[in-house]
Amino acid sequence: SKSYNVALLPGDGTGPEVIREGVKVIEAAAKKNNFKLNFTNYDLGGERYMKTGEVLPESVIEEFKKFDVMYLGAIGHPDVKPGILEKGILLKLRFELDQYINLRPVKLYPNVETPLKDKKPADIDMVIVRENTEGIYIGAGGFLRKDTLQEVATQESINTRFGVERCVRYAFDLTKKRAKNNKLTLCGKTNVLTFASDLWQRTFNVAAKDYPTIKGDYVNVDAVCMWLVKNPEWFDVIVTDNLFGDIITDLAAMIQGGMGVASGGNINPEGVSMFEPMGGSAPKYTGQNIINPIATINAGALLLENIGEAKAAKDVDNAVIKALESGKIKSMSAGKMGLSTTEVGDLVASYL
Ligand code: IPM
Ligand code: MN
Repeated sequence: SKSYNVALLPGDGTGPEVIREGVKVIEAAAKKNNFKLNFTNYDLGGERYMKTGEVLPESVIEEFKKFDVMYLGAIGHPDVKPGILEKGILLKLRFELDQYINLRPVKLYPNVETPLKDKKPADIDMVIVRENTEGIYIGAGGFLRKDTLQEVATQESINTRFGVERCVRYAFDLTKKRAKNNKLTLCGKTNVLTFASDLWQRTFNVAAKDYPTIKGDYVNVDAVCMWLVKNPEWFDVIVTDNLFGDIITDLAAMIQGGMGVASGGNINPEGVSMFEPMGGSAPKYTGQNIINPIATINAGALLLENIGEAKAAKDVDNAVIKALESGKIKSMSAGKMGLSTTEVGDLVASYL
């Protein structure tokens, strides 16, 4: 039977606890669909950094390139200065492995509470395509007259025609495959970012000519925030830059029930991709077996789809829906589920 090599990066805090359940569920899906997953564990994260001073060796990046796919828990440690691990591991992997798409599906599952009044699962069903290797995340800029009263800090957003075009085309292709209303919304800030957003809009308009069946739409990022709360049903696929994508996907995660369910993928369509829950390492819940593993399990479904096992991915998605429909999981929040992390994983796996 077919087999796939998966690099496992449990990471920090509650990362290992949620990854354990994710692995349990995707292994069950693999068994059911007659393929094999071979996992190789990598101990990247805060503990290794504090012990050895090593964040992410170049040689490890080279090793990752040989895998079929990567599965990440969470990066971020309370005893390490913010930025070191996030930039040194997470962003470095996205950049070095050229995972230029950050794919974040936003879907309200049955029995999951949304803070939006009167919205049902049918109203909240979209995908956000976030550019993942450019923009303000690139680290261009610096300080002038640092630590003086005249200090100046600059941080520039870098947008290449090449980078924007591959992202926009990915989003058009994805929109075409979705059943909804075949609408792609470009999210920017053309009224202020007259260089960066202008490049995005022109690139979007040229690409749109190759997708005559898709309705291309443009909405400013501030208005996107407004409509995500008021009329989320208006959206099908949204494409946007790295920073706007970071911000609107947190908002979108909350309307789908929070970090307990939100997942995403860092995708290089021509190389190796990495799937992760959207939430962080949640250090205060570490070791208590009370964190929600559903986001990581959902990331597992995206992982299976990425390696070409669409049927197994659908099975995992259906198992999550059945587990939620069972009513046995009381809440999506850590400590309030009425079940342990392990029990939620077992429940989902029981439907496979
Ligand atoms: C995310 C996170 C990261 C980001 C941080 C941890 C660097 O917020 O995946 O959305 O800003 O991309
Ligand atoms: Mn974020």
